Amino acid sequence: MPIEDSIGALVDLQREGKIRCIGVSNVSAAELSRARKVAEIVSVRSSDALIDICADGGIAFIPFYPLAKGRLARPDSPLARIAERHRATPAQIALAWQLHRSPVMLPIPGTSSLAHFEENIGAASIRLSAEELRTLAAPNPNFLRSLRSRYLRAFRTLSALAGLG
Ligand SMILES: NC(=O)c1ccc[n+]([C@@H]2O[C@H](COP(=O)([O-])OP(=O)(O)OC[C@H]3O[C@@H](n4cnc5c(N)ncnc54)[C@H](OP(=O)(O)O)[C@@H]3O)[C@@H](O)[C@H]2O)c1
Repeated sequence: MPIEDSIGALVDLQREGKIRCIGVSNVSAAELSRARKVAEIVSVRSSDALIDICADGGIAFIPFYPLAKGRLARPDSPLARIAERHRATPAQIALAWQLHRSPVMLPIPGTSSLAHFEENIGAASIRLSAEELRTLAAPNPNFLRSLRSRYLRAFRTLSALAGLG
């Protein structure tokens, strides 16, 4: 279905007073541009590629999985060292980093725990230094190592299947 039709149906609901605002999820830059011709879009949930477009348009940007489904919040998180420096938790550093990235950033971490909810709210008052932001933006060496070993495993499997191994 063309995005103009689905957004058009939401505009009808808005006119009837059944919904107040319209946000979109999983859209490309081109789809977002088409949606914005039909309605005022207040939020976008998407991959990082659309952050700048959202910032230019004053649209809230909601990242997917702000805590990497809990992986970034674990004590062995790559954020643990910076967290210690701030007497914060890795989850708070993950969220603080996202908030520093853009004024339109709106992370919505999922949690079933009131204590985690309160901890996550506390991330908004953490100020990260320019050096910390550079460290956080740099590729994680552990991630690169695991990517390399996954690539090698896949390459060996494909070579074996092709009878090259
Ligand atoms: N529209 C879409 O296409 C789409 C796609 C994916 C996800 N979503 C939505 O995005 C939201 C976030 O996704 P998500 O919940 O899967 O991923 P997430 O926010 O990255 O991670 C949530 C996990 O982190 C843990 N957590 C939260 N705060 C914590 C803290 N302070 N310390 C330690 N652990 C913490 C939670 O466990 P506890 O419960 O123990 O706190 C939960 O296991 C959800 O509302 C989800 O429905 C939407």
